Amino acid sequence: MKGVILAGGKGTRLFPLTRVTNKHLLPIYNEPMIYYPIKTLAAAGIKDIMIVVGGESIGDFLRLLGSGREFGVNLTYRCQEGADGIPVALALAKEFAGGERIMVVLGDNVMDESLKGEAQKFEDNKKSSCHIFLKEVHDPQRYGVVELKGDKVVAIYEKPAQPPSNLCVTGVYMFDSTVFGVIPTLKPSKRGELEIVDVLLHYLGESRLSWSRLKSYWTDAGTLEAWFEANSIVREKRKG
Ligand code: DAU
Repeated sequence: MKGVILAGGKGTRLFPLTRVTNKHLLPIYNEPMIYYPIKTLAAAGIKDIMIVVGGESIGDFLRLLGSGREFGVNLTYRCQEGADGIPVALALAKEFAGGERIMVVLGDNVMDESLKGEAQKFEDNKKSSCHIFLKEVHDPQRYGVVELKGDKVVAIYEKPAQPPSNLCVTGVYMFDSTVFGVIPTLKPSKRGELEIVDVLLHYLGESRLSWSRLKSYWTDAGTLEAWFEANSIVREKRKG
């Protein structure tokens, strides 16, 4: 399985911190944010990783991360012009994926769980084309949120005003190669972007979506409060 990290976007929710510095290069305690998704993929046993980066910052990423040797992985970079949505960034990984199954991590997702077992299960589960990881959160209106009936996902909403549950869709996904056929069929949402939730809904409609829960700490550090909280939690863990 190959890995893809999506680190494009504008980081406007963290302005002015992100006016000059790319969001994913900001620190989470003692390491740049982008180290976390790289380590998540490396811990899942993935060696070949593409990082999709916004055009202006690609040189900074290259200087920081180089070939990826420090992490025991091989890094490839691609540039996303503009910030038209997560699926637009993902589509840039089509040739890199080369028909293999992929694990995708959003560049601002910070966690410390090994997904090796889940990656192996997904490789073996030919009935699923898309796997999502869910996590209970206290502010589900900020995220993609699932509605469950028993242990079945029956609906997924992006940033719902009235969330049907507190189970958020984290920014860690696994797909088979059909995802690159689904993305071109998407239509922009009201905010003018292609939405990853529409990709997930496609697989839900085809009964080819599987899910599991993350067991330990997870956050999306894309807002000031969440970024600050991620710093505090990682600090507590690392201080020992
Ligand atoms: O973190 C989990 C959440 O991430 C999910 O629950 C939501 O369903 C999903 O839409 C996403 O929501 P966000 O509001 O956090 O998405 P955001 O626009 O902040 O983008 C998250 C990451 O995706 C960002 O760190 C970089 C990458 N990205 C985003 C855009 C818009 C790109 O690489 N290119 C882009 O054009």
